[in-house]
Amino acid sequence: MNTLRLGVNIDHVATLRQARYSTMPESKNAEPDPIAIAGICERAGANSITAHLRADRRHIQDRDLERLRENIVTKLNLEMGNTPEIVDFALRLVPDEVCLVPENRQEVTTEGGLDLVANKKELAGTIKRLHSAGVRVSMFIDPAREQVDAAVELGADIIELHTGKLANAYTEKIEQQELERLREAATRAANFNLQVNAGHGINYRNITLIHKIPHLTELNIGHSIVARAILTGFEAAVREMLALMAKYRG
Ligand code: PXP
Repeated sequence: MNTLRLGVNIDHVATLRQARYSTMPESKNAEPDPIAIAGICERAGANSITAHLRADRRHIQDRDLERLRENIVTKLNLEMGNTPEIVDFALRLVPDEVCLVPENRQEVTTEGGLDLVANKKELAGTIKRLHSAGVRVSMFIDPAREQVDAAVELGADIIELHTGKLANAYTEKIEQQELERLREAATRAANFNLQVNAGHGINYRNITLIHKIPHLTELNIGHSIVARAILTGFEAAVREMLALMAKYRG
């Protein structure tokens, strides 16, 4: 059984920088630097660095990704919507992996999975282009049978299961229902030889629920690690999460 891998999403490091310096991007005072933080996360044992380039550039900037591409020693996972401008950027950047997510300007964070069934035609072309550039492609989806089947049909390499509903479940019943949906989707995807990742809303408490989902390869975690790092520093925050993840038995 492979150990569960950790991708640290560093968007909110850029969120903090932009809160003060969005109008002064060239300022020598612009901090914190997401690239420096990515290096600390890697040294603490993170297996990849994830960043989301949004159409409105609210946190991560193009230049951040160019510098991440040059400096990362693990793996760069670019989260992005399937829009022509961002796809062209990804083809120039050539991250190790792209995770396609829905792009909705109003949302605070990515609120639902990408609907692969409704967007099959547009996604097929993008996946083909990314594959020909040597980029592995992941699809961020809700845990539903038809979404897993569409990912297989589209030739995705990876699915990332949206764990937001499980993470935010406020009754035991909803928690159990959502866990069952995630377990079924993970098993179905693994039977089709897709790599199964998970992400959204995972924290130092609900990680025990994530352990109940089989076939997982990698977790992408952002908010809770950045929040903990404010208290403990990034190195300790990443090590603590990795220690909790080490209890995964698949
Ligand atoms: N995975 C995907 C596809 C996401 O869009 C996000 C949020 O940017 C995450 C993982 C990380 O979620 P969180 O910040 O809640 O850990």
